[in-house]
Amino acid sequence: MNAEIALLKGDWLGPEIVDSSVAVLKRTAQIYGHSFNFTPYLIGGCAIDEVGTPLPQETVDGCLASDCVLLGAVGGPEWDSLGGDKRPEKALLGIRSALGLYTNLRPAKLYPALRSASPLKEGIIGSGFDIMIVRELTGGIYFGERGFREGKYGNEAFDTEAYSVTEIERIGHAAFRTAMKRSRRLCSIDKANVLETSRLWRQTMHRLAEEYPEVEYTDMFVDNAAMQLVRDPRQFDVIVTSNMFGDILSDEASQLTGSIGLLPSASLGDGTRGLFEPIHGSAPDIAGQNKADPIAAVLSGAMLLRYSLGLSDEADHIEQAVDTVLDAGCRTADIIGSQEGSPLTCSEMTERILEAL
Ligand code: IPM
Ligand code: MG
Repeated sequence: MNAEIALLKGDWLGPEIVDSSVAVLKRTAQIYGHSFNFTPYLIGGCAIDEVGTPLPQETVDGCLASDCVLLGAVGGPEWDSLGGDKRPEKALLGIRSALGLYTNLRPAKLYPALRSASPLKEGIIGSGFDIMIVRELTGGIYFGERGFREGKYGNEAFDTEAYSVTEIERIGHAAFRTAMKRSRRLCSIDKANVLETSRLWRQTMHRLAEEYPEVEYTDMFVDNAAMQLVRDPRQFDVIVTSNMFGDILSDEASQLTGSIGLLPSASLGDGTRGLFEPIHGSAPDIAGQNKADPIAAVLSGAMLLRYSLGLSDEADHIEQAVDTVLDAGCRTADIIGSQEGSPLTCSEMTERILEAL
């Protein structure tokens, strides 16, 4: 198959890990006889520096004209003082929204080989866990009305959360369909004891649940969920939640697997064009030192093959290569723990994955 893949490498760590992922995708294409064409576009801080805006129109148009998008990371301290609309992060929200990517899949799976890298005790980990967080990505407080005004105590800032029934229904259906393909357990997480948006969310999810009688549906308050994730992560299979709660809970869940450097994500809309990115950020502290863990980006490439290009054998092949190198004891600095020897560099780890393909 021929595919057009837009590359948004972004800032700091972004380019290094996207290069690793592209190397793995190219080798996979060679093995299976596909032809992938990669076109880079600017996004984030580097776009601000080069053309004065974090999300140039050319980038949006390029992504819209591609089959799918592979993204690294955006942001860094040099752009922290810019106003809300000019920040690199705004570009990430902008591209998600421009491409209509309302479903964000964030798997958090414990690799058997990395059990000792998890901060959880053996007794809690048990036979391991494999959670899929389905995060709503283009609504809620991230996109609500915001601003500054005169309040009871003087000048104040405000951000508002709004969710329509339509937005809840489409993410709800995506989550129920995801649950149907896995172990048919879905937990919806909200704050319905306090928030109106959460009450509408819960009511809508309950209505959808009737359409999926095979799915064992539960709901949970977000504060309890944050606690349950570390108390007993094995109780979860698929989780569905709002943009903000999903942002927070997915970082928490990632840490339970040992390192945020391992976890990929897929952002999807109604069609097949998706955006794939590691859930970690641009990590200025380790960027440019060949120290990063490329696995999250490599696995994002696998998700791209599976969800946008429909190439599930090829995606399995990459995921198996990652299993193989981890089983063989290959470790970058984030997951080496107390293991003997020095950690692999980012390029060494990439090379091992390429050899395992
Ligand atoms: C993420 C990130 C982004 C988000 C930021 C960088 C805008 O934290 O993808 O989880 O909050 O969605
Ligand atoms: Mg986040």
